[in-house]
Amino acid sequence: MRLSDLQVPAPDGIFALIRAYSEDPRPGKVDLGVGVYRDASGQTPVMAAVKEAEHRLWVAEQTKSYVGFSGDPGFVDALHRLVLGDSVAPDRVVGAATTGGTGAVHHAFSLSRLIAPEGRVWVPAQSWPNHAAILGDMALPHRAYRHLDRATGTLDREGMHADLTNMAAGDMLLLHGCCHNPTGVDLAPEDWGTLAQLCIDTDVLPMVDLAYHGFGDGLDADVAGLRRMAALVPEMLICVSGSKNLGLYRDRAGGLLALCADTRGRAALAANLATLNRLSISFPPDHGARLVTMILKDTGLRAQWETELGTMRARIGAMRASLAEALCRETNDTRFAALARQRGMFSLLPATPEQMLRLRTDHAVYGVDDGRINLAGLTNETVDHVARAVADVLR
Ligand code: LMR
Repeated sequence: MRLSDLQVPAPDGIFALIRAYSEDPRPGKVDLGVGVYRDASGQTPVMAAVKEAEHRLWVAEQTKSYVGFSGDPGFVDALHRLVLGDSVAPDRVVGAATTGGTGAVHHAFSLSRLIAPEGRVWVPAQSWPNHAAILGDMALPHRAYRHLDRATGTLDREGMHADLTNMAAGDMLLLHGCCHNPTGVDLAPEDWGTLAQLCIDTDVLPMVDLAYHGFGDGLDADVAGLRRMAALVPEMLICVSGSKNLGLYRDRAGGLLALCADTRGRAALAANLATLNRLSISFPPDHGARLVTMILKDTGLRAQWETELGTMRARIGAMRASLAEALCRETNDTRFAALARQRGMFSLLPATPEQMLRLRTDHAVYGVDDGRINLAGLTNETVDHVARAVADVLR
């Protein structure tokens, strides 16, 4: 086989939408596709705290020489404090900067393969499609577990627990830290405790993908469950992204935090994280990571960032409430009230891929084929149009 014999890989559904949207000439089109925050004017501006940090960095930075395979230790420390607070003894945590949150997810799967080559990764039945795509590409065995009760728009707790009783030693359990993508249906605090105990009993490694920290109920509230689990389990991996909550999408500012049972394996684990970077990308990107560190460690920048993040969160919440109300009205179906109780940028419409296609072709409303919509893509001006369009295709 030659390079020219390669087949075109299956297109990524989310990014195919971006293209279709940009090629659509209709003026009233609405983009509820890719998971990017948008303000009320439809823009994704650079956050003011980021702009200020960039300015300070531009003034102060004297070199762009290599930092280290794991990135800047100050960045890892800043992520550790932000995500874990004081829920675990600091000397149990190691970490590395990664190429965005996805780089951390990839490394987490690599670690799973290193420690238990036959282990299976348990992924929610509704999840970010790239989770299963990466696992497939790495030829790692994976299983789906139930997450969403479609009838109520809430957690299928019974189904989830029934499926997860099939986990076995050496498996990895993938959880969404908050603002579940694509359902908006999060675990309750007590679920984190129950799942922690299940992981302990079955010798399963929990791995948390934390891509939307701060978009749900607040910075501490969004990780309360994760922290509860971290305080209980011996080992855990957390994939952190600065793409959404700091708006650093293209700068690929992410990190992998790893929790050791005790300090015994700490040095080896840290060295493995460094090696995963070295073997794949040599050195992780530093610019975005440095901005994150500056913002999280400077009182003024941090306050500014938290205020901006709060504004974003409030806007998403307001759009959620408006759409839930408009959908109940337009469809005459109170089931849609559940949207207002879900969290983060996403919810899943009870629509087939064909209905999602009709939403695009007939109404110029762009959502993902699995029914996912990005609430941050709505504005006060488009909510009613979207609700009427959804009602029409579901009729
Ligand atoms: C999404 O789910 O839309 C985002 O995480 C963007 C992506 O990379 O798919």
